[in-house]
Amino acid sequence: MLAWWREHKREFDWRSRPLTSYEVAVLEILLRRTTATAVANVYPSFIERFPGVTSIAGVPHSVLSTFLKGLGLENQRASDLKNMAQHVLSRKSKMFAAQTHELEKTPGLGPYAARAIQVYARGRAYCPIDSNVSRVFSRVFRDAIGSRPRISEFQDFADALVTRTRPRAFNWALMDLGATVCRYDRPRCEVCSLSPICDFFRRNNPKK
Ligand code: ADE
Repeated sequence: MLAWWREHKREFDWRSRPLTSYEVAVLEILLRRTTATAVANVYPSFIERFPGVTSIAGVPHSVLSTFLKGLGLENQRASDLKNMAQHVLSRKSKMFAAQTHELEKTPGLGPYAARAIQVYARGRAYCPIDSNVSRVFSRVFRDAIGSRPRISEFQDFADALVTRTRPRAFNWALMDLGATVCRYDRPRCEVCSLSPICDFFRRNNPKK
């Protein structure tokens, strides 16, 4: 999968440099229920204008939501950003929690964003599961986890599979494979590096 990804990776501004926990948290709040292309248009200027938790905690909600125009759900995103920043500043350390189970409880975050912070800001081996990644797992490991598993039922299993030495590349490869090869409609199994171990592929191609 990593070899495939080296040739087929999608390029985004936020993949080109190391990110802080704050920068990953903002990214994940912006990426919810919209496209990466839409986020790419606002993310660099957002980070430039609001470079850390202190810069958004006191800003009026309306200023944040105006800045996010075009993404949709601007009010929800502005609330999530402010609640997150105020929560972090209320902590004694003024830093994002170190432990995943605590990070998950940060207002505005949740299991996905918490794991994304662990992976992309801290290089730890976790697997944030969105709908694309969930589809890859439910196909490749269908016999073990079923075709429509709840994320909470295979989260630990997914976390345990992440390459310890390259957690960022592993997760980007998995999400790009889910978005461009293991598509919902017309999956491109013939070019998929996971076909040799995939339950879905084997069921559809009994002779291979
Ligand atoms: N690249 C594309 N989607 C991403 C996400 N949700 N987190 C980090 N990098 C990404």
